[in-house]
Amino acid sequence: MRKPFIAGNWKMNKTVSEAVELVAKLKEIVKDERGEIVVIPPFTALFEVKKIISGSRIELGAQNLYWKEKGAFTGEISPLMLKDIGCKYVIVGHSERRQHFNETDEIVNLKIKAALENSLIPIFCIGEKLEQRDKGETLNVIERQFEGGLSGIDESKARKIVIAYEPVWAIGTGRTATPEQAQEVHSFIRTKLRKKYGNEIANCAIILYGGSVKPENAHSLIKQKDIDGVLVGGASLEAESFGKIIEEGWRAFREK
Ligand code: PGA
Repeated sequence: MRKPFIAGNWKMNKTVSEAVELVAKLKEIVKDERGEIVVIPPFTALFEVKKIISGSRIELGAQNLYWKEKGAFTGEISPLMLKDIGCKYVIVGHSERRQHFNETDEIVNLKIKAALENSLIPIFCIGEKLEQRDKGETLNVIERQFEGGLSGIDESKARKIVIAYEPVWAIGTGRTATPEQAQEVHSFIRTKLRKKYGNEIANCAIILYGGSVKPENAHSLIKQKDIDGVLVGGASLEAESFGKIIEEGWRAFREK
């Protein structure tokens, strides 16, 4: 049985004191929630946030990693370091990394493998740009990113991966995919998982939607058959809106 999964990607926002304030409020809000709730602060706040959430229902994730365990890679953060600090998840292949930091499918693949080898669960992001959607190329792009990112990853590893479908045109734009548009891609991804890894993995896989998720649209998105939760950017920066999204996610799941 899949469970509702709500993750907040804070991106490059929040000083340590702001992060601590936000997560302390969240901890109060999500006391009785079931499902998986994940906060993904910037690296600088991971340590302090972890201290506050330990013993609570909230899990910790990081926004990026490098694929080597240690060495002369100035400015990079290794999977070992993330594990050590208490991360359970790490985002890999976010479109902002692909766009601004030239991350290719090959790099994404190395990062997914490095995460899995260090018992971190990758939240593997894929999604098309607006011009690709307009040209009718959405599913081709998804297929290419899916195959590239998961190349050489076998069933035993694949069962741990969370996939996030994030159409680039919906990120930070206020323009969300309709539930039908999102469901179409989610169902395509689940079918790809079925072909590559079999029924069991496809049926259990968590596939998130991301891109301008708000308290107002979370319910209709998560109600879709193949949408198991959401990866939230802007609306995860306030405890109240993120708390509402968690509530809406749980309500949608009960109604499925
Ligand atoms: P947004 O970001 O909710 O601000 O659109 C989503 C994401 O990039 O994960």
